[in-house]
Amino acid sequence: MDLKKIFGYEGKNVVITGSASGMSKSATELLLELGANVYAIDINEITLPVTKAFKADLSNKEEIDRVIEELPDKIDALFLCHGIAYFKGKELLVQKVNFYSQKYMTEKLLNRISEHGSVTYISSVGGFGWQQVYDKAVELINLPTWEDAMDWYNNHKELIQSAYVFAKQCLESYVTYKCMAPEFINKKIRINAINPGDTITGLTEDFNRSTSPSGNLEEGEQMISNIFLKSWNGYPAEPKDMGYPLVVVGSDICSYMSGQLIYIDFGLTSSWTSQALLQENKKSIEEISQEANS
Ligand SMILES: NC(=O)c1ccc[n+]([C@@H]2O[C@H](COP(=O)([O-])OP(=O)(O)OC[C@H]3O[C@@H](n4cnc5c(N)ncnc54)[C@H](O)[C@@H]3O)[C@@H](O)[C@H]2O)c1
Repeated sequence: MDLKKIFGYEGKNVVITGSASGMSKSATELLLELGANVYAIDINEITLPVTKAFKADLSNKEEIDRVIEELPDKIDALFLCHGIAYFKGKELLVQKVNFYSQKYMTEKLLNRISEHGSVTYISSVGGFGWQQVYDKAVELINLPTWEDAMDWYNNHKELIQSAYVFAKQCLESYVTYKCMAPEFINKKIRINAINPGDTITGLTEDFNRSTSPSGNLEEGEQMISNIFLKSWNGYPAEPKDMGYPLVVVGSDICSYMSGQLIYIDFGLTSSWTSQALLQENKKSIEEISQEANS
């Protein structure tokens, strides 16, 4: 059995963001190993031997448009992985980086994605409970332009207060809403997201610092551990625990999989669902997810 053939990336054009670090860097390493032509984009320098590396700030529409002009005419798999943690005052930036740029890039590149191609995102356990904001997310998704979306954010400051959470909830809503939309389904383009749990990457320090109300690194680390690890005496994931499954989801191995939000968290979010369903603590899914995301 030829494993490279089963993955189906050999000689194919793959576009991936966030390849300078963390999960996306792991994914990029595997894609190169599997023989893909990799076009990688990051705000920081990409050190891997990709086909072409682009340096761009993907929170900026003009920079995205510039990179898009230089990407190949035919793309077989698109991975949108760039992301940042939330710090106070950066609510809009987090929406742009963690969701809106990803939607924008998807839609700008969709006509270049081949039949039976794939689009795969890195969302987060932080988006758990996305159903609660689905109607608002769909309203945002349906706005025709970047500028309309920025106005919408300005008029919905209460929603973007939960910055990281709302952006990831929008991403998860997008996958659910678009998987059967004509622009995807007519060409049988698959669209999925992985939703990682706590993973040690370039973002870890920022997550720790931003979780602590006083910005204290150790306090933040303890809080994150309490939310994500304590209940199962767990340990954080490594970047490849997310990057490798990401590559699998976008590959021919998952040729019949679309519209899926794949939580990679050792079962943590399933245990939250279970607790809520059994009403062990008389808590709703909403309360449990709010607790986890606060
Ligand atoms: N680390 C975790 O615990 C965790 C958990 C759940 C989800 N995630 C998500 O995983 C994804 C990957 O992050 P990671 O944890 O590997 O962190 P990372 O910092 O190691 O990688 C993120 C990459 O995105 C790039 N990036 C950030 N802002 C950018 C911008 N404006 N333009 C272009 N590139 C930009 C960074 O330079 C970096 O290379 C993110 O979307 C993050 O939200 C992370």
